[in-house]
Amino acid sequence: MTMRVNGQVTVPGDKSISHRALMFASLARPGSKSVVREILDSADVRSTAGVLRALGVPIPAFSSNMAITGVGRRGLAAASAALDCGNSGTTARLISGILAASPFRSLLVGDESLSRRPMRRVARPLEAMGAHIALAAGDRLPMRIDGATLSALRWKSETASAQVKSAILLAGLVAGVEVTVEEPSPSRDHTERFLRALGATLLVNGSSITLAPVTRDLSAFDLTVPGDPSSAAFFAALASLADAGSLSLLHVLDSPTRDGFFRTLTSMGGAVARSAPRHTDSGESVTTYEITPAQLHGVEVAASSVPSMIDELPLLACLAAHAEGETVISGAEELRVKESDRIAATVANLRAVGAEAEERPDGMVIHGGDAPLRGRIVTHGDHRIAMAFGILGRRRSNAIEVDDPDCVAVSYPSFWRTLDEVTR
Ligand code: S3P
Repeated sequence: MTMRVNGQVTVPGDKSISHRALMFASLARPGSKSVVREILDSADVRSTAGVLRALGVPIPAFSSNMAITGVGRRGLAAASAALDCGNSGTTARLISGILAASPFRSLLVGDESLSRRPMRRVARPLEAMGAHIALAAGDRLPMRIDGATLSALRWKSETASAQVKSAILLAGLVAGVEVTVEEPSPSRDHTERFLRALGATLLVNGSSITLAPVTRDLSAFDLTVPGDPSSAAFFAALASLADAGSLSLLHVLDSPTRDGFFRTLTSMGGAVARSAPRHTDSGESVTTYEITPAQLHGVEVAASSVPSMIDELPLLACLAAHAEGETVISGAEELRVKESDRIAATVANLRAVGAEAEERPDGMVIHGGDAPLRGRIVTHGDHRIAMAFGILGRRRSNAIEVDDPDCVAVSYPSFWRTLDEVTR
């Protein structure tokens, strides 16, 4: 049976920007009102909202038009219980920066997957600023943070991680001290864009970013969250694998720090048309993608393009399973410490459905082919593994069963419904 796609997809709001919108609206001038439109309503963003509520911020129920009253940088209050970050690394790591500069004790906890992920990467710079942090097994949640009066910091990050960079910038913001972060290559820059837009001074010098001491509370804002390119990528892949039709992906965040998947799909021979970027009130640009089916060929993904497509690499590997020739992904060892070990999970699942793939310590090699792929895959509760194989399963003659389809609620609760609608 052939697969035909048809229609338009408005993907949900960007996850990274949604987390940050809640945090910056909370820290804005006491009594000020921010309006956040089209926020992503998913389990991860709900974790951030829950943590902020527990710290005394009156975050209302999720809606497409949320008004949030700020409490100020110094307005958070000690929570009466542990702060549950659920499955969300962004919640745990970004909030840790805010709490390191807040003068009370906090305890961050998370689900089983988050409790396996490394936290020392944020604890080290925050301790160097003067916070007191205790981690389970020296690197894991639960994380106990005793907030303190922090001092300025210059930090050279070993990994290109927006979460580490953001934790340091947020600690600097709340503490009112200068911080400089140097990254091996640029990671997503949404925190920097918020800081600038709301009145802070940031200096960028090559790969290092300096936040000048912030002496006043930041302003409130009015923002429409752009569509998430990491969610749009699934439907771009679907249209590429289809036999006929086309898909339009509307209002997708257009950022050089996030568009690596779309650039790589183009270099694999994908038929990707991108409209001229439109600037929005969020300080970010959006675009419309139009994707039609194409015979793809293998590609080499080098370390330098990994940060701009880090969350899309399992999906790229699934596409590569039907591309002509070999695809090699390297410099992507960070995938091993995401919601699951995404190198091991992607390769094991590709093999389980009959594709040829091998693990490398820092990536994977996929040998493309045309034979149908069939079988059951194990998500390990990882939303992106579920969606990547959900897309692969829709290709003509493929039949892939996903063991835990509901885990998509972390970032894209309506994923399966939308998938059914556009492949009808
Ligand atoms: C995110 C940064 C990335 C990404 C995650 C969201 C963010 O993690 O994988 O899904 O919002 O800052 P790292 O900073 O660990 O690379």
